[in-house]
Amino acid sequence: MCALEVVRASPADADNLCRALLVGNRKAFERLPGAETGGVDRVITDMESRFADEYPKRLSDGSTVFFVARVDDNFAGYLEAVPLPNGDYRLRAWHVLPEYHGRKVGSRLMRHFLEFAGEVDVYSHTTIGSESEDKYRYYGFEEDLSVPPDHDSRETPPPMARAGLIAPQIPLVCRRRCSSAWP
Ligand SMILES: CC(C)(COP(=O)(O)OP(=O)(O)OC[C@H]1O[C@@H](n2cnc3c(N)ncnc32)[C@H](O)[C@@H]1OP(=O)(O)O)[C@@H](O)C(=O)NCCC(=O)NCCS
Repeated sequence: MCALEVVRASPADADNLCRALLVGNRKAFERLPGAETGGVDRVITDMESRFADEYPKRLSDGSTVFFVARVDDNFAGYLEAVPLPNGDYRLRAWHVLPEYHGRKVGSRLMRHFLEFAGEVDVYSHTTIGSESEDKYRYYGFEEDLSVPPDHDSRETPPPMARAGLIAPQIPLVCRRRCSSAWP
């Protein structure tokens, strides 16, 4: 039987986080319009250079909460969230290496994080119609209707647009203040 554990990340996890981000996004982006003209390679190359610097900083400055999942002591995925001034959280990343998909790794990460966050609202966003949108909705996330229809955050994120990908976003919120309504 496999031992799955979720723990806070340490600076030594930086390379693994970066690898999961790049591999996860490559897979998530491959069906987007613009992928057929090399958009995925362009955006992944851009992300690789930015996050190789960014993750070691975020892991050591404490501005961000990172949880990592390990299966039999092997890194399998991570979740990153930023605390907001009012105590809510913005979920910035949730990635599981493809070889561990469908094995409850993402589930353990999300459930561990929601338990940790407590009864506060959690914000996120993802590509409209993506598989991850279904998974967010499963955990009680819904469209954040307070974000106006023409708001920039609903458009393709700039690094993806520069790479030629088309990926309109849906702002999401999981309203958990005074509620324990998640499965
Ligand atoms: C999104 C992601 C992190 C989920 O990880 P995972 O290990 O594949 O997820 P799991 O198999 O544990 O499934 C998570 C939950 O969603 C449920 N689920 C699975 N497929 C589903 C679907 N199509 N619709 C709704 N719920 C679904 C599972 O039953 C599970 O629920 P549980 O908590 O009751 O067990 C992973 O697929 C991934 O890395 N994707 C690529 C990167 C990405 O798009 N990240 C999200 C945006 S940052």
